[in-house]
Parts: sequence; C-alpha cells; structure tokens
Amino acid sequence: MKNTAICAGSFDPPTLGHFNIIERGLKIFDTIIVGLGINLAKQPILTVAERLDLLKQILKNHKNVEVVSFDGLLTAFARAKNCRILLRGIRNMSDYEYESQMALANKALYPELETVFMMTEGQYSHLSSTFIREIIASGGSCAGMIHPLVEKMLVRKLRK
Ligand code: PNS
Repeated sequence: MKNTAICAGSFDPPTLGHFNIIERGLKIFDTIIVGLGINLAKQPILTVAERLDLLKQILKNHKNVEVVSFDGLLTAFARAKNCRILLRGIRNMSDYEYESQMALANKALYPELETVFMMTEGQYSHLSSTFIREIIASGGSCAGMIHPLVEKMLVRKLRK
C-alpha cells in the first residue's frame, strides 16, 4: 500500500502553520491528500470553493499533494481514498485535548485508521485561523502568518 496520509482541516483560512505541517509531512509520507472538510462547530468565512482555490494555488508546485474537498465524515473520506493515516498538527495542550478526542472518535468509526500528530514549529505555534480573521477584519496585517493570496482574499471578504 502506498504511504499516503490525509491532512484534513477546515482551512478557514489556511495558515502558514498548515503549509508547514504539509511540507514536513511530505518528508515522512510519499503523498499527502489535503482534505477540506466541514467543521460543523465553526461558521465559515470563506466558501469551500474559495478555500479549495487557495489551497490548490499555493500547493500547485507540490507534485505529491492532492487537494480535495469532502462532505460528511472524515472516516468515510479516508475509506474512499483507501487511506489509513491521518496527519494532524498540534500547537499546544488544548489542541491535544481536542485532537485526542477526535482521534479516538475517528478510530471508533474506522479501527484501521491511525492518527499521527506532528508538533507545530515554534514560529507558527501562535497562529490560529480565528485570530487571523480578527486581525484582518480589524485592519491589521497578517504578513508572516498567511500566504499573500490568502491575505488578499480575506481583506476582500472581511473589509467590505
Ligand atoms: O481545521 P479543523 O476545523 O480542526 O478541522 C476539523 C475537521 C474538518 C477535520 C473535522 O471537523 C472533520 O473531520 N469534519 C468532517 C466530519 C467528521 O468526520 N466529524 C467527526 C470528527 S470526530
């Protein structure tokens, strides 16, 4: 079986922390499927089409990365992709609490599925999509936190 991992998220917006996890993940896995899923607990700012477009543009030079969105359960998506590894970035202990619950829930739904946690690198550990949305909406700059294409789209959406 090919060494493929799914890096799933809501990516609203994608941050440099997400791309750092994907790039470091490519040193471990042959292929990474970036799965854009729906987090029902979050009210999205960017549409799925906008997020997909950003992820595809920013990752276009990575030949071993596939960007795709999915509806419904992540475990159903992983089964459909014949993939048994989830890659998740962890910034701190509160991420760990949420992530460990999610990993156990996903494992209950798909016992062969393993979640692999990767520590977010220090310079990205303060980044959160929520703070980024707030900074942009309040007129600040998120240079060094998000890709310029993401900043451009957020400014257009949040500063009407
Ligand atoms: O970036 P996020 O918001 O932490 O990503 C969360 C995401 C999209 C991976 C998660 O909400 C998810 O898997 N959604 C699909 C529905 C699902 O399978 N929910 C059960 C998770 S235990």
